[in-house]
Amino acid sequence: MNLISAVVLSVLVNLGSGAQNLTFPPWFLFGVSSAAFQVEGGWNASDKGESIWDRLLHTHPDVIVDGTNGDVACDSYHLWRRDIEMCEELGVNVYRFSISWPRLLPSGFPNYISEDGKNYYNNLIDGLLEKGIQPLVTMYHWDLPQSLQDLGGWANPLIVDWFADYARVLYTLFSDRVKYWLTLNEPMVICDAGYGLMGAPFLDDTNIGLYLCNKHVLMVHAKAYRIYDEEFRHLHHGMVSLSNVALWFEPETPADTEATKLMMQFYEGRYAHAIYSKLGGWPPELEKLLTENGKREGYPYPRLPPFTPEEIEYVKGTYDFYALNHYTSKQVRKVDPDKAGSWPYYGSKEIGADMVNGPAWERALSATWFAIYPEGIYKQLLWMKNNYGVNNIMITENGLPSFEPTLYDLKRANHIRNILEQVHRAMTEGVHVLGYTVWSMMDNFEWTSGHKLKYGLYAVNFTDVHRTRTARESARFYASVTRTRTIPLHETMDFE
Ligand code: BGC
Repeated sequence: MNLISAVVLSVLVNLGSGAQNLTFPPWFLFGVSSAAFQVEGGWNASDKGESIWDRLLHTHPDVIVDGTNGDVACDSYHLWRRDIEMCEELGVNVYRFSISWPRLLPSGFPNYISEDGKNYYNNLIDGLLEKGIQPLVTMYHWDLPQSLQDLGGWANPLIVDWFADYARVLYTLFSDRVKYWLTLNEPMVICDAGYGLMGAPFLDDTNIGLYLCNKHVLMVHAKAYRIYDEEFRHLHHGMVSLSNVALWFEPETPADTEATKLMMQFYEGRYAHAIYSKLGGWPPELEKLLTENGKREGYPYPRLPPFTPEEIEYVKGTYDFYALNHYTSKQVRKVDPDKAGSWPYYGSKEIGADMVNGPAWERALSATWFAIYPEGIYKQLLWMKNNYGVNNIMITENGLPSFEPTLYDLKRANHIRNILEQVHRAMTEGVHVLGYTVWSMMDNFEWTSGHKLKYGLYAVNFTDVHRTRTARESARFYASVTRTRTIPLHETMDFE
């Protein structure tokens, strides 16, 4: 990165002028994120097992907008040295990546640990640490071993033990060096997308399977957390959490206030209340609503499988920090449940509300469904602190999508700047934010959007066998932020 861009220059000039730049404390962790299935490729390298995403994409390429798959992706399986180099160029303190369960445990069970899988992650972890970069490891970012799906996957309560075995292998192999762990990435997507025809295993079961999954993800997380707590914490003193994705919701009009609260509980509380609230268990108003909806449809069971009092205690408090993935915000509009459904998720039908973009909110680069509303993250952070009393938060994903591959992505740089400004604002108002990681370090396999949708600070040439990575303007900007720990004044960012 020898080229000083206009954006970087603006940071430096601004610093020189002594204007009031916003500075982050020395302990604040700047990072970037990725996920195994989206970057690694090497889908059948060595003895790797098949994952549910491998299976879906090989049997139903039609579910992906451009018909591509993750067989090679960014080829990080071979290019991990370059990935570390990019982290260095970006000057980040942490690199968030995930471990592919079927790469490490090809059968899904710990009867056999792949040497190649183990070496791959050891190399990555050691390589990062040599450069002073902390690994932030997600144990599960959606690539379940197909063997476990064949046994019922997330709808089978035995997944709690299967995952516990996997987690124990991970802690045993890596927790001497990995201090930040995330058990699951976005349980909302694991269940709502996986059982709502939006991601692997691509099932259509939003009445029973989805809600079984809801309970099991929470039990899985809690058990993996408790294993660390009881067997590894005293040795390695790390931190464990799970990443929840949270859209910020606000009412379109005052009449939509109640529906908005339910929407928050549906999309966030369903995966957070049991862990972070003082009460534990399901969010009460949501549980009531979903039970009534299920009853009306003639189901003999409540939609959300009840927790026993012991289970409530078991799940409650299983976090060392709150890991937040935040991308965008929506306004909530109450409507007749039969007419609801402007959003691809079925949740609006349960609640009887649609999600719309705020009229004044800007749209992302060509991805018009994505509203740009930086204040949303500020409000979200305060909501988490006020609602759950959690005051140790790490932003584990945030970024801006684009269908355009341009290297001159000033809008993305500007967005990162504006989000960081809002994070800083929340911090000055007493929210303790540990760090911020950008999604994503580089363009990658963006699930059902294939290679079309891009989030990368680095562009990846997917037609080149070498999968060349090239820094975008946003990468240069972010590198200047991580190095100065400062964001420039808005007026100095000449972007549009
Ligand atoms: C996921 C990523 C994904 C990103 C952008 C997040 O919900 O964790 O895997 O690529 O959103 O869609």
